[in-house]
Amino acid sequence: RVSIVISPSILNSDFSDVRGELAKIAGADYAHVDVMDNHFVPNLTLGLPVVEAILRVTPIPVDAHLMIEDPDRWAPAYAEAGCTSVTFHAEAATAPVKLARELRAQGARAGLALRPATAIEPYLDLLPEFDMILVMTVEPGFGGQSFIDGTLPKIARTRQAIRDAGLDVWVQVDGGVSRATIERAADAGANVFVAGSAVYKAEDAAAEVQALRDLASA
Ligand code: DX5
Ligand code: ZN
Repeated sequence: RVSIVISPSILNSDFSDVRGELAKIAGADYAHVDVMDNHFVPNLTLGLPVVEAILRVTPIPVDAHLMIEDPDRWAPAYAEAGCTSVTFHAEAATAPVKLARELRAQGARAGLALRPATAIEPYLDLLPEFDMILVMTVEPGFGGQSFIDGTLPKIARTRQAIRDAGLDVWVQVDGGVSRATIERAADAGANVFVAGSAVYKAEDAAAEVQALRDLASA
């Protein structure tokens, strides 16, 4: 059985107190940090200098999700800065294998992200080059959207292909993950769960992380 990993997204947390907001999720496995450039997605968040500041104060490893054009150029710096996991989008990368190898050479885990309408099949031969596949369960760009059930078959096909190949690649889901949807994603084969608003809108973020972990492990 694959391990259950909880990676709360700080996207909708209070950026004026990033240290305090990160402390709330110290019981999680990773802090998921969403980098958006207003080109790959219609929203702008933060870039490398802010990620470097987050890395200085985070109690847990950072899982960077790069929603940016030209990750071939920009992604390696996030690994070099100390992000434990760096995920870039398949739709944006020019040379995904070369980039994954660069990330791994920096000591990071390499992740490949797919928008809801992007199929996994063209990438199945590349699975050994990655540590994680991120199946987006909403259109990337904003927190607080609802989970797209139509992505569940892709999660299942991805997990099956990983199993068939005898690989240890994680399958991450991101978008609309909450107590109401996490079991569906886990049953389909996801083992890494990003939850933004579910955690940071909860009265007790730490308890919410534990509740999500329990549901995913059940
Ligand atoms: C959206 C981001 C997500 C976002 C998830 O493009 O990639 O990480 O923070 O937020 P929720 O959990 O609210 O859907
Ligand atoms: Zn994300």
